[in-house]
Amino acid sequence: MRHYLLIEGANYNHLNLSRYIKISLICLRDTIKKINASLYENIFIVDNLNDISQLNKYHIEDYKFDFVYSFSEFNQLYAGRISDYYNIPGISEKKIQFLQNKYCVRDILRKNKLSCIDSEIVQNLEEVKRFILKEGFPIIIKPNRGIGGKDIHKITNFTELSKMTIDTNTLVEKFIEGKEYSVESFTFENETSVFTVTEKIKDKNLSEVGHIIPALLDTEIVKKIQFFVSKMNKILGLTNTVNHTEIIISKDGAIELVETHCRMGGDMIGKLMENSFDYNIVDYWGQSIRENKQLTQKPKWNGLYSSIHYVFPEKPGILKEIKIPNDLDSLNISILKNVGDHVVNVGNTNRVLSLIYESPSYSEVSSISKKLNEIEIEVD
Ligand SMILES: Nc1ncnc2c1ncn2[C@@H]1O[C@H](COP(=O)(O)OP(=O)(O)O)[C@@H](O)[C@H]1O
Ligand SMILES: [Mg+2]
Repeated sequence: MRHYLLIEGANYNHLNLSRYIKISLICLRDTIKKINASLYENIFIVDNLNDISQLNKYHIEDYKFDFVYSFSEFNQLYAGRISDYYNIPGISEKKIQFLQNKYCVRDILRKNKLSCIDSEIVQNLEEVKRFILKEGFPIIIKPNRGIGGKDIHKITNFTELSKMTIDTNTLVEKFIEGKEYSVESFTFENETSVFTVTEKIKDKNLSEVGHIIPALLDTEIVKKIQFFVSKMNKILGLTNTVNHTEIIISKDGAIELVETHCRMGGDMIGKLMENSFDYNIVDYWGQSIRENKQLTQKPKWNGLYSSIHYVFPEKPGILKEIKIPNDLDSLNISILKNVGDHVVNVGNTNRVLSLIYESPSYSEVSSISKKLNEIEIEVD
């Protein structure tokens, strides 16, 4: 039986994988209290996930692991370092560093004609202005190695630009017009399988306010997406991983990448997949690994659209009160912040509450977010 070495983070995926292969875990001392230890063949406890010398005493090389992997973006560099140092198959540290560099990823796709938009690393406002004179408005300014929707700015004119401060390692890109989706896929031995496409719901600040699975798309577009993601993975040299790829589809059906990751989508996307399909993507990946081949059968959709919707405060401040009307009591609403917390109206970590909802009717799922407008969030 295959034996994977996993690094802690997004641990809810481990159960799915453990149904098909043996797994062992590297984790921090405190994590041990929060996990189901019986899932793992071995647990290697460390005090620091940056220092691989802490693993010396465990003689990792004696276990003959088939792969080392982390479902968490934060620990993938560490997994890569272990792969390199112990010569265990995995995604190398260099490859992870490359994938987290949004400029480099777009550049290689551009050179392979899979991306048509221009982008540039800039150091100051003058360099942004030069980019605009070449490319025109609107543009996106974002951190080159950003995460979680932090510090994303759509700039449509010079007045907006003049209010910006530019850090080193800032990325400017032409703004891609269209509707945004994420693609949940996995690769096994160089072959990519798209599990499902997720519709992404954005607000005017470009914050993610919801996801719906599966996206309402015609089969031709889904085929085009499969082709795009397969080609992208080949160009990026990505294999043996779960992928979460964010794309924008223009009105004329052209596909552009926003960013891609070697992990599951966050925001409970795994849970939404389980609500709408017979298995989630990690089960499919696990079956492929166990059977040592890409699966030919497709996940079975049960006819339900599953969604998660989020609510942000209208302005930054201290959270004073959340008033939920009684008629929303039956909904599966989770409160994500406490009274007294400082909250901002952008960035995924500032969401105040979420609602998970499913229905056979797409329009019902997509309009349920209107009900959330009845909730009053007071900030001071
Ligand atoms: N070039 C672009 N054109 C249009 N929208 C973009 C572009 N780059 C980023 N965005 C928007 O900003 C959001 C966050 O950007 P992303 O690169 O995914 O950053 P993060 O890693 O913080 O999620 C995207 O989901 C998308 O809505
Ligand atoms: Mg993103």
